[in-house]
Amino acid sequence: MDYIKRLSEITDKNQLALIHTFGCQQNENDSEKIAGVLHEIGYGFTDDANKASLIIFNTCAIRENAEKKVYGMLGALKPLKEMRPNLIIALCGCMANEEKNIKKIKSTFKQVDIVFGTNSIQELPRFIYEYLSGSNRVFCTTEDELIHEDIPYFRKDSVKAGVPIMYGCNNFCTYCIVPYVRGRERSRAEGDVVEDVKKLIADGCREVMLLGQNVNSYNGGGDAFANLLQKVADTGIDRIRFMTSHPKDISDSVIRVMAENKNICKSLHLPLQAGSDAVLKSMNRKYTSEWFLQKVDKIRDKMPDIALTTDIIVGFPSETNDDFEKTLDMLRKVRFDMIYSFIFSPRSGTPAAKMPFVLSDDEIKANFERLLEVQNEISLEKNKALTGKTELVLVEGESKTNPHFMTGRTEGNKIVNFPAPHSLKGEIVPVKIVKVGTFSLEGELI
Ligand code: SAH
Ligand code: SF4
Ligand code: F3S
Repeated sequence: MDYIKRLSEITDKNQLALIHTFGCQQNENDSEKIAGVLHEIGYGFTDDANKASLIIFNTCAIRENAEKKVYGMLGALKPLKEMRPNLIIALCGCMANEEKNIKKIKSTFKQVDIVFGTNSIQELPRFIYEYLSGSNRVFCTTEDELIHEDIPYFRKDSVKAGVPIMYGCNNFCTYCIVPYVRGRERSRAEGDVVEDVKKLIADGCREVMLLGQNVNSYNGGGDAFANLLQKVADTGIDRIRFMTSHPKDISDSVIRVMAENKNICKSLHLPLQAGSDAVLKSMNRKYTSEWFLQKVDKIRDKMPDIALTTDIIVGFPSETNDDFEKTLDMLRKVRFDMIYSFIFSPRSGTPAAKMPFVLSDDEIKANFERLLEVQNEISLEKNKALTGKTELVLVEGESKTNPHFMTGRTEGNKIVNFPAPHSLKGEIVPVKIVKVGTFSLEGELI
């Protein structure tokens, strides 16, 4: 890369970058690529803004809160930039792919020097070079929808890693900004994915998470994702997970391959979003609650102990209290191990942002609280059923709350803390579950 040489001529040695990630696992994965690109041009990394000569915000646009947080933190950087004019501030990620944000940053957030989209990470050295050689703000205008292979990674975690299998989304759920900021679906070649997994194994990685907004439509759908899963399973990696599975597209072949391969975790994230068929229709989800229940039966028939998780949106504009009751009914019927719940946030440019609300903010908040109550009880009951059982745990590192404890995850993706030496990091060990809470388990090494 020509820019690398030219950059090294105009930048100091030993520069540090701070990368702050706001979004989902895809966003996290992009940050590891950003770090890879920066590492290649000589940057080290820090968590301390005062030590960084480059600060990058890798942003998320999924809900208003996510955007507010970014603007708040950008505001807080203004005095730092005034004190240290040589500090470079860059913003990338999903917010950078929305015209309204670019306008706002251009006019109001002048402390931001470089803005680039989710598909331009490989161009970062050029943007830094252009900024440093001209001192004008750089707004990337070359965003494409190609797949850029060969972007180096600088991985955060040596034990588990995300591997994108596809980018973008074609589903246009009426509440969701992702198709607008991430573009149309495009899939990586099977060989490239498998090659990545093999390299990770060679580097000591134990678990991969295959990533995509709808992995079931990999390479156009049908059996393509099942075939890919089988090939990844054949690499012999210890654990495989994937997300996200749109329920409308999960095929029998995926369920079969999951059931047949020991190294594919018996754990599935299947976003339901709502329990009312009218709301699901208005969301453009393309399945009914009955259809979802049948899928769950099919999955549990093949894998009775599978851990199921889901996403729920509360307060979709057309949602009535009766509709909301149907979401609670679904939680009681399916008995998910855990849910991720969100209050609907209107995203400008999406169809749902123009729909009138049936419920007031207070009613929506009250429903949200009830949702958590109902689910917390189910999660606790499901965790209680694990008491006394032995689970295989992949040890991820030291527990956040106790330095004598290590933390890891069961095959069902539940967090377990247990007393153990640090040397176990990266090992898969049997742990007897002795105590359970709603969100995590405590165990003893056996
Ligand atoms: N591709 C995944 C979801 C990615 S976004 C899927 O189809 O399931 C993650 C979750 O954020 C979604 O499942 C949804 O529950 C939530 N979400 C998306 N847009 C939202 C919005 N406008 N308001 C509130 N929650 C939203
Ligand atoms: Fe958004 Fe729907 Fe695509 Fe998921 S499938 S990213 S919710 S549009
Ligand atoms: Fe992910 Fe947020 Fe973008 S959820 S795809 S980082 S809008």
